[in-house]
Amino acid sequence: MLPMMQSVFITGNSSGLGYGLTEEYLSRGYEVYGLSRRGCTGIDTKALHDVRCDLSQTSTIVPALESLLGEASRVNLVFLNAGVLGAIRQITETPLEDILRVMDINVWANKIILDWLLERNLGIEQIVSISSGAAVKSHKGWGAYSLSKAALNMLNQLYAPEYPDTHLCALAPGLVDTAMQDHLCNPDEVDVEQYPSVQKLREARGTDSMPTPRAAAHRLAQVIPRLKDYPSGSFIDVRTMIRERGR
Ligand SMILES: NC(=O)c1ccc[n+]([C@@H]2O[C@H](COP(=O)([O-])OP(=O)(O)OC[C@H]3O[C@@H](n4cnc5c(N)ncnc54)[C@H](OP(=O)(O)O)[C@@H]3O)[C@@H](O)[C@H]2O)c1
Repeated sequence: MLPMMQSVFITGNSSGLGYGLTEEYLSRGYEVYGLSRRGCTGIDTKALHDVRCDLSQTSTIVPALESLLGEASRVNLVFLNAGVLGAIRQITETPLEDILRVMDINVWANKIILDWLLERNLGIEQIVSISSGAAVKSHKGWGAYSLSKAALNMLNQLYAPEYPDTHLCALAPGLVDTAMQDHLCNPDEVDVEQYPSVQKLREARGTDSMPTPRAAAHRLAQVIPRLKDYPSGSFIDVRTMIRERGR
């Protein structure tokens, strides 16, 4: 009998890190299920299935999951990767509506997805929520994003003891050269004098400290099995992990 194909579900796989993860897992022979608003285009293979869904429209998430994964009997690995940065603004100047929108996409949509996935008998071994160093380190201007990633870390901690058969973690992927960085590194869009933390990003761009999405996805895929060495529910920064283990 042929061995069953491994499968992965990736949210936000139309661009950036999610697209890189899609390419990486297809190259590893996985069946890939993706979800985004624009769809994952430019890859021609029957192993890729995707559905279009706006995660800010919470009532549309369950129907999208039903249409994408309703017939799937097994999903080995999940990346809750879709995310938005929100406007870089001082917290006092950030309207509550902006924070709510970022929270809807970066946190509450993931609660809906987790509930749907975990209630089904899909045999999910690992769920990796893509977090950020900003979850634990505050920088002026990153208010809504930091709040959302801190809440995402806690969401993982809360689910972990309720689903002991699935390993959950929140993972900071390190810097990745994506559309998010296009915005942060554009002097016309974010003023470095006002928000000095972007200086480090601008210096990292084009260097090994900020890999392409494909290279970052390759690095992440290599460490994914080793995340299980940490307690379920942990927040892990891939850079710390690589430094500590010397690889
Ligand atoms: N880039 C970095 O340096 C960095 C560092 C730390 C953490 N991260 C995290 O990495 C993850 C991926 O970000 P990225 O850098 O790859 O940025 P990106 O290129 O902007 O990708 C974001 C992805 O999220 C999807 N998305 C955004 N809003 C959505 C919505 N309303 N509904 C459905 N999908 C939505 C986008 O798809 P559509 O636009 O097609 O909907 C896209 O595929 C995010 O969680 C981010 O916080 C990135």
